Amino acid sequence: MPVATSLTGQTSVVIGGSSGIGLASARALVDRGAMVTLVGRTEDRLAKAKDALGGAVSTAVMDCADEAAAAAFFEGLPVLDHLVVSLAGGASLGPFTEVPVQGVRDTFDGKFWPYLIAMHHGAMVLSEQGTMTIVTGASAIAAVPQASCLGAVNGALEGMIKTLSVELAPRRVNAVSPGLTDTEAWSRIPDEIREAMYAQSAASTPVGRIGQPEDVAEAVLACIQNGFLTGLVLPCDGGKRLV
Ligand SMILES: NC(=O)c1ccc[n+]([C@@H]2O[C@H](COP(=O)([O-])OP(=O)(O)OC[C@H]3O[C@@H](n4cnc5c(N)ncnc54)[C@H](OP(=O)(O)O)[C@@H]3O)[C@@H](O)[C@H]2O)c1
Repeated sequence: MPVATSLTGQTSVVIGGSSGIGLASARALVDRGAMVTLVGRTEDRLAKAKDALGGAVSTAVMDCADEAAAAAFFEGLPVLDHLVVSLAGGASLGPFTEVPVQGVRDTFDGKFWPYLIAMHHGAMVLSEQGTMTIVTGASAIAAVPQASCLGAVNGALEGMIKTLSVELAPRRVNAVSPGLTDTEAWSRIPDEIREAMYAQSAASTPVGRIGQPEDVAEAVLACIQNGFLTGLVLPCDGGKRLV
């Protein structure tokens, strides 16, 4: 199948679509004519995102950690062409020996299990020509300070991509692995510390800047639109993993 320039009439679900990379991915899907359902846990964040997007957008309040809710949500969809999973649960960051083992379990609870639940139940209703694209993270393949636990989660998710892409074929399954990206996920960090972290990362990234959500969204769209891409973990990190 050639690269699809239009997604008009196709249905998509973006888990974590009310913010950051998920919201930017939803915008890119809307721009190509897709119908988008944004999923998140917070109704007013979803309403704000829907207003910002315009287009054929609906919302669903759901915590993907709740398997029964996720199963009911996906079963209730008439058809699903594209599933994007980009939720960010809390992660325990810090030096490995200082993060309690429970912190690692919490990180799996915050990201791995909600992703797996969305992928499992989403795969069951994905159309024959459908795609699944998950957002993992550079910590799976590079030394990212303080992020060994998140690296374990992202690595576990990426470890499923090749097998799923064969099992679910002709549906296509890919991951996009961002480097540091300027999203609301970092808004809890005091401004001064966050800006210093951004500047330091930009200085050591070949393209000389950190990522914007739109950068990652375009990588997600490439996975959706290019009918010859499957089983891929696509880095989107400005070359940071190479230095
Ligand atoms: N930003 C970065 O630097 C970066 C780098 C590498 C990888 N990533 C990965 O990219 C993904 C997206 O990150 P982001 O930076 O775009 O985060 P973000 O701006 O904080 O957005 C996270 C989204 O996930 C939703 N969400 C969180 N937990 C959920 C759950 N259990 N069920 C349903 N929705 C849930 C949030 O809405 P509610 O809270 O209202 O539910 C929000 O819409 C994450 O997996 C992250 O690990 C990010």
